[in-house]
Amino acid sequence: MNNQPYLPADRSIGVFDSGVGGLSILTAVKELLPNESFVYLADQKNNPYGGRSVSEIKKLSSKVIEFLIDKKVKLVIVACNTVSVNAIDYLRSKFSIPIIAVVPVVKTISEKTKTGEVLVLSTPATAKSQYLKNLIKKFSNGKKVHVVGTSRLEHLAEKGIITGPKVKSAIKASLSIIKNSNIDSIALGCTHYPFLTKEIQKFVGPNVYIYDSGGAIARRTKVVLENEKLLSEKSNEDVLYTTGDDKEFERVLKKILGKDFDRLIKKIKKANLES
Ligand code: DGL
Repeated sequence: MNNQPYLPADRSIGVFDSGVGGLSILTAVKELLPNESFVYLADQKNNPYGGRSVSEIKKLSSKVIEFLIDKKVKLVIVACNTVSVNAIDYLRSKFSIPIIAVVPVVKTISEKTKTGEVLVLSTPATAKSQYLKNLIKKFSNGKKVHVVGTSRLEHLAEKGIITGPKVKSAIKASLSIIKNSNIDSIALGCTHYPFLTKEIQKFVGPNVYIYDSGGAIARRTKVVLENEKLLSEKSNEDVLYTTGDDKEFERVLKKILGKDFDRLIKKIKKANLES
């Protein structure tokens, strides 16, 4: 079941996250590769992943990838930093399908900073991972890298709350470090956060740059598809699955995608990973 010797180009790309956050990646990939089709899985029944143990994250993400392989996808995008930094080696050793994994853009912020002080904002499980420590060691190039792990921002975005007093106070609490530092570049190390970029920008001010992983993952996906001769020439309809409540999923997607909802979302279905 884990081996797919023949992967025709017109198959969909599988994308997953614990919830709606991965849509920030899906939309970036879709924009660069409009001829591709997608199967998205939001594992909302088990959301959030960010407070879970490494073994739980491995188990849950394995089940999701099995589901996507069952849907005959040609490639999997792990649109969840928490899964990537805690389980990517395990997942790549278990599955032979090409897997692209989103991780915080430590290299980018370390290259872009003028002050030499940067911040990675992520879930607690990403913040404490050895993988992130290694990324920082490898790419920070002498820059001072702060790491803040929080679950509050993910929680709000997952409920479709991307503006208003709750968001403002969660941002204030999570980014208090900004005020007494010279941080000028922030990496959004959770795929839910790009939906809060406007509010984060208001809080940190115009001189702090905010980077997410969408563009990098889209470019990487293009390269992998080209190398594997898997670029599609014509897209089919995307399907979005949730292991949670499909009506609630749709409500939240409408909130976070706004006017893009009708253009981007056609089919929402319920998934049961137990069967
Ligand atoms: N969106 C996920 C990430 O990028 C995490 C959300 C969660 O805690 O489940 O890490």
